[in-house]
Amino acid sequence: MNDKKILNDFVVIKAIEDSVNVIGLTRGTDTKFHHSEKLDSGEVMIAQFTEHTSAIKIRGHAKVYTPFGEIESDSKKNSPDK
Ligand code: TRP
Repeated sequence: MNDKKILNDFVVIKAIEDSVNVIGLTRGTDTKFHHSEKLDSGEVMIAQFTEHTSAIKIRGHAKVYTPFGEIESDSKKNSPDK
């Protein structure tokens, strides 16, 4: 899989609870939050990695569909150590 393919692929995030945050982190020397999108339960965001975005952080309970497979993020209140 080449870089172009990685950059062109979308990730789909579906919120399973209210107030899931999808946070974009900057590409380059500095890794900073540059955008935060709040999703309520059932809302879907379709996003790409871009020239500006090298990482995506998800806070809260959501399903994430990527070209590599599916993964579910948990919210703190659902995590086993709480
Ligand atoms: N302006 C941002 C960009 O082009 C928009 C964006 C793309 C984004 N992918 C994202 C924002 C993922 C948050 C999360 O990079």
